[in-house]
Amino acid sequence: MVIEKQFADGLKSIARNLDIKEYIQQSPELYPLFQKSVKRFVTGESKEDGISIGDQLIHKGYRISLEFIGENTITKEECVRAKEEFIALMKECGNRGISSRISLDLSHIGLSVNPELAYESLLELAKVAQSNGLSLMISMEESAKTDQILSIYKRVVSEYSNVGVTLQAQLHRTLDDINELFNYSGAIRLVKGAYQEPSDICIPRSDKLDERYIQLVDLCVKANHQVSIASHDEVIYKQVIERGYLQNPNVEAEMLYGIRPDLSKKLKDDGLAVRVYLTYGVEWYLYLCHRIAEYPPNIYIAITDMIQG
Ligand code: FDA
Repeated sequence: MVIEKQFADGLKSIARNLDIKEYIQQSPELYPLFQKSVKRFVTGESKEDGISIGDQLIHKGYRISLEFIGENTITKEECVRAKEEFIALMKECGNRGISSRISLDLSHIGLSVNPELAYESLLELAKVAQSNGLSLMISMEESAKTDQILSIYKRVVSEYSNVGVTLQAQLHRTLDDINELFNYSGAIRLVKGAYQEPSDICIPRSDKLDERYIQLVDLCVKANHQVSIASHDEVIYKQVIERGYLQNPNVEAEMLYGIRPDLSKKLKDDGLAVRVYLTYGVEWYLYLCHRIAEYPPNIYIAITDMIQG
């Protein structure tokens, strides 16, 4: 058991340090191979790819989230370009009558340049989302950014209730943060947390983390607060279903496109609300790195996809 855990930790550490972009830059001939493996997780490079697959999922009975991939954008020009892409995406959804949540990282639209830029961009995006009948969901990034992200969220949600924010169950602070966020009307997306954090601020993957996750869901339900159970973990869903939470109109399941499609289909076929999180963009290698880091067996799936095409 100890050896298995050490092996799994070793794989995770390799995956976390994987820089697919660097490999591709050094060996451009690998690009088409990586593109084959990424198709399972990313809809394509353009917003048309995301919208078209999203539309198909809506017709099958799912709700959707759409994200233009990007993070840690470090020049103002790139942040403005990202914001404009999100605006174009929302207008296209609005024109086609597609009801979607739009997901984004604040570091994609200015947080790494200047928090005020992220605030102003988010405010503008919230307005466009509202006029197109859409909602926004802010992703949660590494713990060094949590305070800034929550502070920008609170300022914007005070004006636009169609904005929500993601919280990570793995951080000890989340128990306080969630109670504070119940004072704001925006939806909460609850995740375990994808970032490797210092052990003094974080609960590692364990039964204890699963208990904390369920405790946080309990709090959301008691507070009548809108919450997305964003997980692929059957243990979590078993408990949530036993408590009857997925019948509650404030609660939905949310899963990443290409991950546990069997589970999302089963929940949806059982009549429960399931949202699929779709991504698109040319920076797909970032997304592939995250998916491999959080679940190293994905590396084998990626290699198999490359070989089998
Ligand atoms: P956990 O990692 O404990 O895995 C439990 C089981 O689920 C595994 O044994 C396996 O069966 C299955 N599983 C989990 N991940 C898998 C994968 N990639 N491929 C195949 N099977 C997998 N994180 C963050 O820090 N900030 C954020 O904003 C977001 N946003 C976000 C949105 C949505 C919609 C989802 C679903 C997830 C995120 N995440 C995130 C990622 C999240 O924090 C977490 O890393 C992953 O969801 C994996 O954790 P699980 O809860 O799925 O369980």
